[in-house]
Amino acid sequence: MKSLSRISKPSSPPCKRGLTIAIDGPAASGKSTSAKLVAKKLGYLYLDTGTMYRALTWKALRNKVNIKDGKRLPQLAKETKITLKSQSNLETKIYLDGKEVTSLIRSPLIDKNVSLISTIKGIREAMVEEQKKIGKEGGIVAEGRDIGTVVFPKAEVKIFLTASFKERVRRRWKEEINKGLSSEKKRVAIGLLTRDRIDSQRKIAPLKKARGAVVIDNTCLNIPQTVDRILEVVKTKLTP
Ligand code: CDP
Ligand code: CDP
Repeated sequence: MKSLSRISKPSSPPCKRGLTIAIDGPAASGKSTSAKLVAKKLGYLYLDTGTMYRALTWKALRNKVNIKDGKRLPQLAKETKITLKSQSNLETKIYLDGKEVTSLIRSPLIDKNVSLISTIKGIREAMVEEQKKIGKEGGIVAEGRDIGTVVFPKAEVKIFLTASFKERVRRRWKEEINKGLSSEKKRVAIGLLTRDRIDSQRKIAPLKKARGAVVIDNTCLNIPQTVDRILEVVKTKLTP
């Protein structure tokens, strides 16, 4: 499985390309939006690990594989090629076995199934292996649920981004309305609650604050303010 996304070319220092910045947090806490902007600002690679789990979920559903099938699903992950290509507008296009699935993997159906698939050991192993490869030279902003705990436990910068449940529901609901979906806040709330619960209670790599992570609650912060807070943390690691 392959996935790679570069916002813009970084300068090339002799050893590592730059810091490893790990951002974890619950759904709709602002990880993707902020991580993209931080990566752009620093000229780092941006890695949205959630899209990898989403793309695989899409393929499993399409192939009518039982989403609890712990044998078939890891095999499916090994047979799958996921490619992430960044655009100049900061958006990332996602290709699954050569087919573009960017908007297909952001549907309520994928939201409903992705967390269950993400509990499977063999799937996580395949994804983590690929993510480690992508980030091995540093100069990366990676976001997800287990980045600071499992994927890059030695990351120089670890952020746990969060916001109140009410605000996260409002954000995701607004996103769905903007996409033209007839969205109900109650359904969005139940979906987020269920996903957060599965993600933080699973046995393997549960969502939790990594040791040494800085918690940023952005309930009352807008996107530029959130990015500034992350960059403040990064600055402390860049200056000796
Ligand atoms: O964008 P949103 O926060 O709603 O979700 P996402 O980052 O696209 O991740 C979708 C799902 O993939 C999560 O709810 C997790 O179940 C799973 N995931 C994971 O288990 N580990 C990661 N590193 C990233 C995502
Ligand atoms: O990646 P994650 O699911 O954590 O969240 P996101 O997709 O980056 O953000 C969810 C929504 O909240 C997006 O529409 C963002 O524009 C919005 N957002 C916001 O309004 N204020 C923030 N401080 C952060 C995100």
